[in-house]
Amino acid sequence: MKILGIETSCDETGVAIFCEKEGIIENKVFSQVDLHRKYGGVIPEIASRDHIRKTLPLIKSIFEERQLGKQDISGIAYTAGPGLVGALLVGASVAKSLALAWGVPAIGVHHMEGHLLATLLTEDPPNYPFIALLVSGGHSQLIACYEKQEYQLLGESQDDAAGEAFDKVAKMLGLNYPGGPVIEKLAKKGDSKRFAFPRPMTKKPGLNFSFSGLKTAVANEINSQVKITMEDKADIAASFQAAAIETIRIKCERALESTGIKVLVVAGGVSANMALRENLEKIAQHKKVKIHYPPLDLCTDNGAMIAFAGYKRLCSGYQEDLTIQVKARWPLAT
Ligand code: KG4
Ligand code: ZN
Repeated sequence: MKILGIETSCDETGVAIFCEKEGIIENKVFSQVDLHRKYGGVIPEIASRDHIRKTLPLIKSIFEERQLGKQDISGIAYTAGPGLVGALLVGASVAKSLALAWGVPAIGVHHMEGHLLATLLTEDPPNYPFIALLVSGGHSQLIACYEKQEYQLLGESQDDAAGEAFDKVAKMLGLNYPGGPVIEKLAKKGDSKRFAFPRPMTKKPGLNFSFSGLKTAVANEINSQVKITMEDKADIAASFQAAAIETIRIKCERALESTGIKVLVVAGGVSANMALRENLEKIAQHKKVKIHYPPLDLCTDNGAMIAFAGYKRLCSGYQEDLTIQVKARWPLAT
């Protein structure tokens, strides 16, 4: 069985094929970052238009290279939400049209479930139950995950998502979009102890996050400097990253303690951050918790995670009609 996966929720057009026997056999991602960079963030209309340009040619190129035909595909998975509505509609329309033409099911996938299940594509997949830390450009969530794809939301961001905070701080420092990888690189040259930025919502009990206060603290520091040097920028990046990461680690530790679960899965674009991974190692060592990450190339948005999540849904008997429906907001637990 082979499933075609289509991801168009934000600024990456991802197309991939998951094969039941061989795993991910194709995974192509076209990133739009160059188109959005000059605006310092994703412009939804530009994103939708580029998905229209890229989705079908990417599918065609994979089919030509792999010498595949419609008879080889058993289902078409697409990201049905959450994300930018226009962008999601492109992937959903392509998936439903091909599904109708080829006589196969279309399978709407939750983007964050895709991120989460990508961890199962490693050689050492996590055992259920596990706590998932989902940290991307649109989400910061802690979720208890049980077998049969049952999810319980434990906590989430009350304002900015973790990746969004990285992107906004990068913008304040005059750095490129997306900010996460740029901040991580710059932080390596900086002193993470120079600025004592807050670790929001860590002193109060609870598993929710808030990153806007941290972002404001960084903005105030930048505004208070008369002339900001590259060294200052590196110190701010390092101090911000340390605060964000420590906050995330404290919340993960709490989620594991309160549920008694001993497995942590970290997914979403921010999971590519090596400083975060090093910090989370502390939990692994002190609390005897096993931590799992998706393969590095599957941390950020891609079609492979959607193809795989679609495969899992199809196997569990999921069905939908040919109505084209997407959701900008969509709680994973539902
Ligand atoms: O999961 P993703 O590719 O797209 C969404 O679903 O949002 O995540 C993108 C987010 C961006 O905010 C980006 O800055 C952040 O993930 N990101 C990182 C790193 N790589 C990507 N944040 C911190 N460190 C990184 N190395
Ligand atoms: Zn994502």
